[in-house]
Amino acid sequence: MFQRSESTLEVPQSQSVLLLHKIRQPYQLASGHPVPSVQSDDELLVKILAVGLNPIDWKAPDFNFGIPTLPYVSGRECAGLVVQAPTSTNQSRRIRKGDVVIIPSTDYRDLRKATFQEYAITSSVNTIRLPRSLTPESGSTFGVAFVASALALGICMGVNFEEIQDGPDILSIVRSIDPDLLPSDVRNECLHGIQQEERAHSGDFLVIWGGSSTCAHTAKQLARLAGLKIISVVDHTKHGLRLSNHADIRPDLLVDSHDPERAIQIIRSATEGRARFGFDTAGKETAGHLLQGLSSAGKPVSLPQDLDAYGSVKSDFPTPPSTPSNSTKSAAQRAHLVGLTGLPKGEIPEGVALHSVPIKLFHEIPEVGEALSAWAEQLLASGLVKPPDVVGTVDGLGEINDGLDRLRRREISGGRLVARIS
Ligand SMILES: NC(=O)c1ccc[n+]([C@@H]2O[C@H](COP(=O)([O-])OP(=O)(O)OC[C@H]3O[C@@H](n4cnc5c(N)ncnc54)[C@H](OP(=O)(O)O)[C@@H]3O)[C@@H](O)[C@H]2O)c1
Repeated sequence: MFQRSESTLEVPQSQSVLLLHKIRQPYQLASGHPVPSVQSDDELLVKILAVGLNPIDWKAPDFNFGIPTLPYVSGRECAGLVVQAPTSTNQSRRIRKGDVVIIPSTDYRDLRKATFQEYAITSSVNTIRLPRSLTPESGSTFGVAFVASALALGICMGVNFEEIQDGPDILSIVRSIDPDLLPSDVRNECLHGIQQEERAHSGDFLVIWGGSSTCAHTAKQLARLAGLKIISVVDHTKHGLRLSNHADIRPDLLVDSHDPERAIQIIRSATEGRARFGFDTAGKETAGHLLQGLSSAGKPVSLPQDLDAYGSVKSDFPTPPSTPSNSTKSAAQRAHLVGLTGLPKGEIPEGVALHSVPIKLFHEIPEVGEALSAWAEQLLASGLVKPPDVVGTVDGLGEINDGLDRLRRREISGGRLVARIS
């Protein structure tokens, strides 16, 4: 367990950082780099203790997307020690110097907030205090999966979390904000992605394709707390036994993905064609299979626009355009499919709305960031939600390239590889 001591709160003049100088090249370790500084009174500085390695950390340089500038600093989540607290009296007062915190770093354009460095900046509303029962390594795996699954469920599917540890109704939060303040590329998703009468409620089915992923791990826990019935589609050979026995994320029905046609049949039969909510974490092909398992009886219509999502190899802009809702059916009958890393292209049935996760709400809308961060603290402290598993570690910034090579080779499965930084 990490020991908090006064010496660790001192901030040096310079730091080491991993820099990406060129696309499709390894990151380079550089010392003597400036420690990033706060730019407003709601920002804080953390000394990074552990970094969760995400697929985007290797996909972005390999496929040249989500890199707004070179040299670039990557890294999307960490656990760290607060060495400089926010000074604002108006903003969140949850965070104090010496706290160990989780930081989901969704603001990839601001290099001060990246986590492949020894010190990082974040906003107080994007900071989640880590309970003492959890290690920084474990905490470093939680941020991205939590934010992505909470927004997928809360915005795209309309799940209201108010009954769970005083959680937020994020859809109501975004709809109470001046629409002009919502980022233009996710405004339609926020305001019109789902209608009130369509929102997911206790007893509804949620089908997750790619149910072995880290994001699925968190999505299942949140959905279960909200009373949804979970069908999880995974490779049984690899994940069947582990997920059937996993106390936190065992689904109501585990379906093998090996034969997609058979999996679709099983989903439709088990739900009697009533599954209205789908969450795909694998890619546009599996999102297409999932689409067929959801309830819809309409004839195919053309998808109006190209919809590359965060993590898609074709996109150069991680937050995708807003979601079309192309239905002539009544809203109450529509199914909702959320693609975390791509959506089906071409023809989709009537009566299905496609969604991409509006991840930037977390850092661009303080009301959303604060509501999710404060709620995450409660969920972790109460043990109602557990972080994803740490399935391996590497030591220091210098070993992150090796760790990312393990991700590239598909050696990491069922959780996050973590880099211990200090
Ligand atoms: N839109 C957003 O805001 C957002 C947010 C978070 C994540 N994402 C994207 O969503 C997807 C899931 O994220 P995650 O963090 O949950 O993923 P993850 O847990 O790291 O990986 C999910 C699964 O992908 C498979 N996999 C691992 N390495 C692979 C490789 N090199 N090639 C092909 N497949 C591989 C593994 O399946 P097996 O175990 O069966 O091998 C793994 O369990 C990623 O594409 C990520 O970039 C998007």
